Amino acid sequence: MNQNKLVIIGVGHVGSQVLTEVLHLQLFAKIALIDSQDKVAEGEALDHRHAAAFHSQANPEIYAGSYEDCQDATVIICAAGPSIVPNTGELMPDRSQLAMQNATVLREIMTRVTEYTKEAVLILITNPLDSMVYLAENEFNYAKGRIFGTGTMLDSARFRQILAENYQVDPKSISGIMMGEHGLTAFPVLSRVSIEGFKADELAFKGSNSLSYKNIQGAVVKTAYDVLNAKGWTNAGIAQATVALVRAVVLNERSIYPVSTTVTNAYGYQRDVAFSLPCIIGKNGIEEQLELPLDKIETEALKHSVAAIKETMKNCGI
Ligand code: 2OP
Repeated sequence: MNQNKLVIIGVGHVGSQVLTEVLHLQLFAKIALIDSQDKVAEGEALDHRHAAAFHSQANPEIYAGSYEDCQDATVIICAAGPSIVPNTGELMPDRSQLAMQNATVLREIMTRVTEYTKEAVLILITNPLDSMVYLAENEFNYAKGRIFGTGTMLDSARFRQILAENYQVDPKSISGIMMGEHGLTAFPVLSRVSIEGFKADELAFKGSNSLSYKNIQGAVVKTAYDVLNAKGWTNAGIAQATVALVRAVVLNERSIYPVSTTVTNAYGYQRDVAFSLPCIIGKNGIEEQLELPLDKIETEALKHSVAAIKETMKNCGI
């Protein structure tokens, strides 16, 4: 049995779903849960011990832990803090509304975590994600590349799924990403989409709708709210994105995913903002940031997205 240890901070709808999914990886010997409500962490730990009893391989130790557990953690996942509330009269409430509240939550958490580690790979899910990543990475002197956010991985999955429905093909046959903010200004890198080598417009003969940049950007952003307004929260997609990242780190896969990080030297940005761009993910977290060439529309979209993120950063006191 391996000696890897996972800590999950925040076991609400998202954190608990991540826990459910991560158990299938069978990559951890210990999983410690931390929540602002101790009882919730205890309940989730017990419920998931019951679930693990169905698994055929060795079961990890799952328990309600404390920040001290971060000391020897391989990976820490932070899904703490409130999320956007649907059906409040606004059609698509901006994740940036959570800025002040979650900046306080995250500063408290990072203060506690960094008492014990600045080395564990820390994956952030808390919104508004890009500002949270910037804050956590830059205010706590954490090891470079070892903190990053799930970013536009989820938006990219939504993008591929929408394209797949349009072209009536398996989303796994589609390679394509969203970049920028995990939020209203995320944008598709349509110029680089590949459907098993075909460009998007080369499959138009299949009777699919022609996809304008604007339509697809709007559709991807809106679909998060279709879920939120229908069930009240999103958790299945984000859990899968997180699990893919955990696997890439623990198995040192060097997979390329669009994750949110403080951009060190790409697209003209140097450590002044965090947003999602393709990165190689391995045992050290972000092994490399990659500058995917963008066309003119996408370059404009990135500028617009960065402007939105910087506004939100101000509301976080960054
Ligand atoms: C999502 O996109 C709400 O950020 C969350 O599902």
